[in-house]
Amino acid sequence: MKVIIQENYDKMCEWAANHIIDAINAHKEERPFVLGLPTGSSPIGVYRRLVAANKAGKVTFKNVVTFNMDEYVGLPHEHDQSYWYFMHDNLFDHIDIPRENINILNGMAEDPEAECAAYEEKIASYGGIDLFMGGIGVDGHLAFNEPYTSLSSRTGVRDLTSDTIIVNSRFFDNDPSKVPTRALSVGIGTVMDSKQVLVLISGHNKARALAATVEGGVSQKWTCSALQLHNDAIIACDEAACGELTVDTYKYFLDVYGSERL
Ligand code: GLP
Repeated sequence: MKVIIQENYDKMCEWAANHIIDAINAHKEERPFVLGLPTGSSPIGVYRRLVAANKAGKVTFKNVVTFNMDEYVGLPHEHDQSYWYFMHDNLFDHIDIPRENINILNGMAEDPEAECAAYEEKIASYGGIDLFMGGIGVDGHLAFNEPYTSLSSRTGVRDLTSDTIIVNSRFFDNDPSKVPTRALSVGIGTVMDSKQVLVLISGHNKARALAATVEGGVSQKWTCSALQLHNDAIIACDEAACGELTVDTYKYFLDVYGSERL
């Protein structure tokens, strides 16, 4: 696992955006570059930079296909807290990606299980995901794979924990009763099948999750810890998120990847 420690949130986003742009530009094959994407506050700075780079002609998304990680059950597209709305508002409406290349789980699907199975099939039809960017929750959830979700889980319906509902209520007038209780989400196994995984971890409130991802044992208690078994996993984090790492771990990653610091 690579851990790239940047000074602050902005530099973390700058590094991650550059990494994605370089990966898309290095892709010379005819088949599309397949990019997995998250929602949440962590990727917003990355999306802002991808939009700017696209407008400046530094990258094009014409041959990029995207798959989003998750979506709330029961929120229509036009709901301003649906992940469909978030993704269009923050990224898709501002870049040159063909609309038919955008894939987001439909939280209004009549048959959610069939929706999830079709999503897995569609990912497979492209030959898998080249680069999956993710964020994590304070409890270490990756996509909506809450603690104790199987580390080999596939795309499916997930119940949200009370903790996540309370944390996410900040987007729902601070009222937990307005937060959907279920979501559709790619599985840990789905993310692990990607050729490369890049996870953004920023802020003091994610310090325990970062330590669990990097230093803890692999355990379904912290689903993010599965990344230790991925052959090409990158964590881009900021100093604030490093608070629970041992000094040894912190120094090790600065020593090995310090040249990546912006
Ligand atoms: C939500 C999403 C996750 C996201 C997490 C962290 O629960 N389902 O995919 O990673 O929030 O969000 P934030 O980046 O806002 O801390």
